[in-house]
Amino acid sequence: MCGIVGYIGHRDAYPVIMKGLQRLEYRGYDSAGIALYDGNEINLSKTKGKVADLHKKSQSTISLKGSLGLGHTRWATHGEPNDVNSHPHYSNSGNLVMIHNGIIENYDAIKKELLKRGYTFSSDTDTEVLVNLIEEIKNKENVKLGQAVQIALNEVVGAYAIAVFDKQKPDEIVVAKLGSPLAIGLGEGEFFIASDASPFIEYTNNAIYLEDMEMAIIRLGKEIKLRKIKDDAVAYPSIQELKLNLEEIEKGGFEHFMLKEIYEQPRAILDTYRGRLLAKQGIIKMAGVDENLEKLLNANRIIIVACGTSWHAGLVAEYIFEDLARIPVEVEYASEFRYRNPVITDKDVLIAISQSGETADTLAAIKLAKEKGAFVFGVCNVVGSSIARETDAGAYTHAGPEIGVASTKAFTTQITVLTLIALKLAKEKGVFTTTRFHEYLTELEQIPAKVEKALESNALVEIIAEVYKDSTNCLYLGRGYNFPVALEGALKLKEISYIHAEGYPAAEMKHGPIALIDEHMPVVVIATNKGHYEKVVSNIQEIKSRKGKIIAVVTQGDQQVKELADHVIEIPETLESLTPLLTTIPLQLLSYHIAVMRGCNVDQPRNLAKSVTVE
Ligand code: F6R
Repeated sequence: MCGIVGYIGHRDAYPVIMKGLQRLEYRGYDSAGIALYDGNEINLSKTKGKVADLHKKSQSTISLKGSLGLGHTRWATHGEPNDVNSHPHYSNSGNLVMIHNGIIENYDAIKKELLKRGYTFSSDTDTEVLVNLIEEIKNKENVKLGQAVQIALNEVVGAYAIAVFDKQKPDEIVVAKLGSPLAIGLGEGEFFIASDASPFIEYTNNAIYLEDMEMAIIRLGKEIKLRKIKDDAVAYPSIQELKLNLEEIEKGGFEHFMLKEIYEQPRAILDTYRGRLLAKQGIIKMAGVDENLEKLLNANRIIIVACGTSWHAGLVAEYIFEDLARIPVEVEYASEFRYRNPVITDKDVLIAISQSGETADTLAAIKLAKEKGAFVFGVCNVVGSSIARETDAGAYTHAGPEIGVASTKAFTTQITVLTLIALKLAKEKGVFTTTRFHEYLTELEQIPAKVEKALESNALVEIIAEVYKDSTNCLYLGRGYNFPVALEGALKLKEISYIHAEGYPAAEMKHGPIALIDEHMPVVVIATNKGHYEKVVSNIQEIKSRKGKIIAVVTQGDQQVKELADHVIEIPETLESLTPLLTTIPLQLLSYHIAVMRGCNVDQPRNLAKSVTVE
């Protein structure tokens, strides 16, 4: 939800900021802007559209000089995406310039006050209100920029990662964070500011991640000063060494990040269980689980909260935990959970799943569960993210950066982590015999190679995509472990190709969706030979007799479904609980190819953002 980038130092700020904005474009891409201080004037360029549009416009309209600057890529909250509402925003005097990721909820009341005091506003944004509030305080209280920011932030309600500078004091940038992420890169005589570390990894390996309600005064030639926004206490920065590398955030020969990330899944799954799954010794080692084993084993129930694709991984986990470890599980949309006054006790364990680790609703659900005494465990991909920091313990997925807005490798690595946890608990509880435990460990070790095999369906899937690319609707059906995969398949298709798609448990088809089936309706059915195979075959018969077009995902060597379906995609055989790791692959590929054939922007689908830091 909006990406922010800032630079102060000895380089030209423009290329640093533009490249940074491109890397953060996954966070929002409906408009973009940049402000550069050239030693004399602030040069501002803003546009509706992508960072590439901003680059085109800036080259011909402003001076690109200066080694102090702020840039922004926007996912609109207040005010439609247009040039004027794009960030950065000026204060009325033209001295202060600010970028903001988040929402100021009480901006309207503040705006009314400022209007009474003679302030004017050119945009509809909450950000322009905040920068003017800072200016008003700075002038009225006769304080420095840092203090003015601090006083202003104590008056606002909402979420923010902000960066602001004053043209009259161009050796300083003030930044602050609550709810939205903010990283500061520490170079030699230079500082970088960004929503995540990707914009500055080629310049420095050292970063500070601000905590909520912290602000920093970044002054050239001086030590960085951190303080708490609430009470002025000094905060001590913890400098982290970055482990990202450039290659991971570039396309590496693939046409789109999404395709690259689909193909990275064998490696990502392997990285996720590497060092944790020790099949030969027959153990699973996970620090976050081992250190909290009693809490997890004694849980009355596990509540899983997440959003979107991560919620689908949570649904798969519900099957895994209940089936393998015999622990009752509830899976909730974080957005609903946080507002429905849920019954939570200190005997509950809450597992929060999030790729970005920044999703506002998931973060709020965690805070609520902690207040009520539950033990909170996080499954995140982004190291050092807000959710990773807010949870009592956790396990990272090691998927590497996921840049395509549609989640792919995050999903399969989340399932991998959750499977490891369930297996470990099953073993510790004595639900699993050693032989069965070994069987699972050995099979899990085979998964990367089997995902590789499933990826070989790519050419066939492309042919199928050609047949259905002009469809207006699509149904996805699965049962048991593969019901959540059906939901995920449908979500992937709708979010990147804009084809309306629904996922259903196959048996539910009779209770409504069957009315939709005719010769124009493609139905993707997951019909592996495990679980409820015969029942799914009956569902396929029902679709066929209504002339629906059947695209079936089956286990290698299947005969029965082959005779009924219009298209059959094979995946290798595996244990039932591990099938989602394989069945999901052709569904990702199908949505990818259909979206490409329809000319859609696969990596940056309309209206979406990778990291949803507003509710
Ligand atoms: C879909 C997708 C979203 C995210 C959701 C949660 O492809 O990417 O549905 O899964 O916004 O995001 P995280 O996992 O970052 O909390």
